[in-house]
Amino acid sequence: MAIEIEAAPSVQLSRVADSETHGENSPYFAGWKAYNEDPYNEASNTSGVIQMGLAENQVSFDLLEEYLENHPEASCWGQGAPGFRENALFQDYHGLLTFRKAMASFMEEIRGGRAKFDPERVVLTAGATAANELLTFILADPGDALLVPTPYYPGFDRDLRWRTGVKIVPILCDSSNNFQITTQALEAAYELAESMNIRVRGVLITNPSNPLGATINRSVLVDILDFATRKNIHLVSDEIYSGSVFSSSEFVSIAEVLEAREYKGSERVHIVYSLSKDLGLPGFRVGTIYSYNDKVVTTARRMSSFTLISSQTQHLLACMLSDKKFTKNYIEINRTRLRKRYERIIEGLRSAGIECLKGNAGLFCWMNLSPLLEKPTREGELDLWRTMLHELKLNISPGSSCHCPEPGWFRVCFANMTEHTLEVALERIHKYMEQRRT
Ligand SMILES: Cc1ncc(COP(=O)(O)O)c(C=O)c1O
Repeated sequence: MAIEIEAAPSVQLSRVADSETHGENSPYFAGWKAYNEDPYNEASNTSGVIQMGLAENQVSFDLLEEYLENHPEASCWGQGAPGFRENALFQDYHGLLTFRKAMASFMEEIRGGRAKFDPERVVLTAGATAANELLTFILADPGDALLVPTPYYPGFDRDLRWRTGVKIVPILCDSSNNFQITTQALEAAYELAESMNIRVRGVLITNPSNPLGATINRSVLVDILDFATRKNIHLVSDEIYSGSVFSSSEFVSIAEVLEAREYKGSERVHIVYSLSKDLGLPGFRVGTIYSYNDKVVTTARRMSSFTLISSQTQHLLACMLSDKKFTKNYIEINRTRLRKRYERIIEGLRSAGIECLKGNAGLFCWMNLSPLLEKPTREGELDLWRTMLHELKLNISPGSSCHCPEPGWFRVCFANMTEHTLEVALERIHKYMEQRRT
């Protein structure tokens, strides 16, 4: 029998508990809820909601499963097998050296060997969520701000602001130049913060960008780094999708820019990475902070006690990622499959009369539905989002949930479903567009 507890207790909670800055009531999360209540299933619920609001990578699970089948030593400890007791007791916050080495080398490999990573600078965290929050705790005090280009990943409202008390000041980017970050926009955001007496501590970019699904080019990266240097602030580069760039040569990591400058001024730069997207393992909770600043590395490592990765997971991934034959094959095939999915969705949308921003990375595309809005406003965008969710039964993320300043853009994920489900989603969109035309 359920235990009855008073619904609105009078006892007080902390400011964090009462805060609204978590952002859970945005349409981004509301769409997930609608999906959970009526999930599409190819066999048993063909009229259910198709989840296109979740940036998961399920296209290469077969390769991971094949590895695990062929390498039982990575995930099984039979009777008397070596390593079990050691692993069961391991809780050092430095993490397994074998895993840090494997992670550093994997990060080099997905950058085509154009950047070097020192395993001593790899700090392990429970996913990029923890890495971003932990860095924010280290770089800024409550009331300070980070500048973040719009549109941005909705989770940043939680990760950067909620528990840290740090503010996000948007760097306003729009479609007039394909949402590229400009020095003017950086300066304007900085000035806006100053005019509100808010101290800016850093710029946080995602490269390749979520939600745009596009890489940031070298000259823009250089401009951002120069801006951070001029203002004497930090630069955090969240490169969680770096292995999901369709062609490795199209990605420039901030690590490469620093290497070209012989690491001059690198102490303000910090890279966030995780295996949630490129390996499709968000449930394993494996992330990292790679900082060029010794004090940040030491502090982040101390703080990582709150957010460690289980030694069992570290052991498994140390085996997997140090197998060069496996990683090379995985990275190549995963990229090819993602590109194929991307091309299919872009082509399917185009034939329905819908254009997307040109992308070259990630698990989603950035779709322009502004011509369909009744009113060119955030409200108009949310009306269309509701139609998509309740009539077409497609959960896509409205641009406003990513703080896009321009109404009518939507993020559409394509790698968290089968090819068949993607075709069903495209069919629903085609029908809808046809109905609108008649
Ligand atoms: C840009 C970005 N950073 C961080 C995260 C969180 O990743 P993780 O699952 O590793 O915590 C996501 C997940 O969608 C993301 O898109």
